[in-house]
Amino acid sequence: MATSDPLVDAARRAREHAVATFSGFKVGAALETTDGTIVTGCNVENATYGLTICAERVAMFKALSEGHRAFRRVAVVADTEAPTPPCGACRQILWEFGADLDVVLANLTAITGHHRLEDLLPLPFDARLL
Ligand code: THU
Repeated sequence: MATSDPLVDAARRAREHAVATFSGFKVGAALETTDGTIVTGCNVENATYGLTICAERVAMFKALSEGHRAFRRVAVVADTEAPTPPCGACRQILWEFGADLDVVLANLTAITGHHRLEDLLPLPFDARLL
């Protein structure tokens, strides 16, 4: 598998900003919009623990707040051998705002997986069901 692409490189750089004070587990994410813009995020932990926000949601909320509405891919990077896939909460937010994204998982040196978001979130709940 390829070792990198610009989206993964952006997620790797974003990971360096992670505020992983309590877990020590730094994650970076990068979203690619349909016009090719890259918007990054990192996980941010705080003393309540429960208010932690994952890198993927930071990236998506940043992107939405900057006016982006259409997305192609998301990359998620952690310093682990095994891929770090988005948690359940992030899958929901990525699905609602990003639809069937291509999810690229990577570590600091290699790409470790490619998935469609619909495969990671079967039978999703979304606005179509309201
Ligand atoms: N985390 C992410 O940012 N993204 C993931 O895909 C998995 C988990 C963060 C949340 C928390 O700050 C730390 O990793 C440990 O769970």
